[in-house]
Amino acid sequence: MHNSKLCVGRILLAHSGHATARKFFTSATAASYDSCVKITTFGQDAAWKREIVQHVARSNAVLDLACGTGILTSLLRSAGRQVVGLDLTEEYLLQAAKKGDLQLSQGTAEVLPFRSGIFDAMVSSYLAKYVDIDRVVQECWRVLQPGGVVVFHDFTCPSSPAINGLWKSYFSILRFFGTFFKSWQAVFTDLDNVIIQSRWVDDTKDALCRLGFQDVTARYYTLGTSAMVVGIKP
Ligand SMILES: C[S@@+](CC[C@H](N)C(=O)[O-])C[C@H]1O[C@@H](n2cnc3c(N)ncnc32)[C@H](O)[C@@H]1O
Repeated sequence: MHNSKLCVGRILLAHSGHATARKFFTSATAASYDSCVKITTFGQDAAWKREIVQHVARSNAVLDLACGTGILTSLLRSAGRQVVGLDLTEEYLLQAAKKGDLQLSQGTAEVLPFRSGIFDAMVSSYLAKYVDIDRVVQECWRVLQPGGVVVFHDFTCPSSPAINGLWKSYFSILRFFGTFFKSWQAVFTDLDNVIIQSRWVDDTKDALCRLGFQDVTARYYTLGTSAMVVGIKP
């Protein structure tokens, strides 16, 4: 694993999302992350990640930003992409390293340890709500070649009142389970508020358009519980 510990204390302090990410993604949650995301999303995580893989089907070199335990990184590699995974959390990268011969790097999404123009695509799942999205989008622009695709995927709060009520009830149940699964308690307690307070879909679309990305679209999945924002560097 290439350990570029350039993590830039000032950047980490600059955005409140970093403190949340540090609290959620620890050695306590790393080993059970894959099972937890599968169970708590009722398998939808796999469907969302398959959709991400489809978006970059014509790309060669792909950056998986905030790769975590490497679920998406492995899927991309199985689909024939040359993929590099980058993540902030060493314990998560150690889990990713167990999935086989993946190219992994430790660092922060706001200051990428890569040369300019070396990727054909950048994907990320569950990162956007934790970062300064303007900085991340600028870095994506820098490391992408012309024609490069960006895909940001993350959770969203359903807008339909009925679904929203069910979604909130579901998080109440998760909060209850958090009293038994202590390592996940912080996530189960706080994640819904992090999602509610995030404006990542609009902020990401705006940041992409401002920089000049084209064909910027946002699409919602599974009753509005997650979304993907996609764009192309001209
Ligand atoms: C919910 S996990 C998602 C992991 C993986 N993308 C997936 O879909 O399974 C969120 C990941 O974002 C990483 N992360 C949070 N903030 C980050 C940042 N500023 N730079 C890089 N990674 C970050 C965390 O370390 C964690 O592994």
